Amino acid sequence: MDPEDAHNLALRLLGLAEQVPGALTLLERLSAVRDDRLVVETMGLRFPNPVGLAAGLDKNGIAPRAFSALGFGAVEIGTVTPRSQPGNPRPRIFRLPEHGALINRMGFPSRGASSARARLQHVTGHMPGGGVLGVNLGKNATTPLEAAADDYVTVLDALHDRADYAVVNVSSPNTKGLRDLQERRALEELLRRVVRRRDGLSRHGRRLPLLVKVAPDLDEAGLSAALEAALAAGVDGIVATNTTLSRDGVSGAGAAEVGGLSGAPLRHRATDVVHFLVREAAGRLPIVGAGGIMRPEHALEKLDAGATLVQIYTGLIYSGPALLGQICAALLSRRPTR
Ligand SMILES: Cc1cc2nc3c(=O)[nH]c(=O)nc-3n(C[C@H](O)[C@H](O)[C@H](O)COP(=O)(O)O)c2cc1C
Repeated sequence: MDPEDAHNLALRLLGLAEQVPGALTLLERLSAVRDDRLVVETMGLRFPNPVGLAAGLDKNGIAPRAFSALGFGAVEIGTVTPRSQPGNPRPRIFRLPEHGALINRMGFPSRGASSARARLQHVTGHMPGGGVLGVNLGKNATTPLEAAADDYVTVLDALHDRADYAVVNVSSPNTKGLRDLQERRALEELLRRVVRRRDGLSRHGRRLPLLVKVAPDLDEAGLSAALEAALAAGVDGIVATNTTLSRDGVSGAGAAEVGGLSGAPLRHRATDVVHFLVREAAGRLPIVGAGGIMRPEHALEKLDAGATLVQIYTGLIYSGPALLGQICAALLSRRPTR
């Protein structure tokens, strides 16, 4: 089956489960691992466990409650762009099974911010097991880079009261010029603007945590610059990392596809980035680790590198939701019983 069709089918089925009375309770019973020892409190939020669904699988908020019932501690929907856009022509997701990897050049297909707002209407505050709802913000392909901040602010305005946290995505490789926004001055300016807007939004006295998501292809100077920009602007956390343009360690026909590589070949690089950012941030910001978590020990590796939370996408495609329970079990096996 075409990978995108497979993802969409799984998403539709989970979306249907949200409509069927009792189905989420059943999912929760079958799949979720609930234990207070897994709880992580950070950025003013309470995550029932540290394992989140990374952005890109549920771009339009079709099934966040079902993912929460499966046992994810957080579900990050998006990337959501202000206006609806189709993304790149298909095919645009490619499996590299021999490498445990995917290459994608989706280019932010999105039904737009008002559609996401409508979809999330019955989600906010109703995530099974107390799962945290994140929204990943992006820009439309046709918006010039100079006006990118307006796009992020537009999506934030539309979704701030529907989400528990938001992520400024400046690191997807499939929107022309987007990653240039990671440069020190451009990033600080952009983040200051979004933070200022966030600070002005009324959320009954609560502040929406705002994170920025970075690419694994930044070198140490680039990562330091992005961290400095995030700290100067007053951002609450960093998601590390998005997909990579590198093809190190992959070969064969699929490897030549244009797009961002995720999964096993990204793992070491993403962990190195987490390590570096944790060291440089020195406790000033939490780091959310993503990239190549295919087995429970890979999640532990990110957490041991200092990540406060982790996210998975490609591992879920190859291993299914059982991976989530296995990660939680591995975490519990390290915790003393209460
Ligand atoms: C098909 C696909 C689509 C993605 N779309 C997005 C996206 O829209 N926004 C985003 O911030 N990251 C997106 N990502 C990146 C993931 O959120 C994650 O950062 C990356 O894949 C590394 O994690 P993994 O190795 O567990 O997949 C996408 C990844 C894949 C495989």
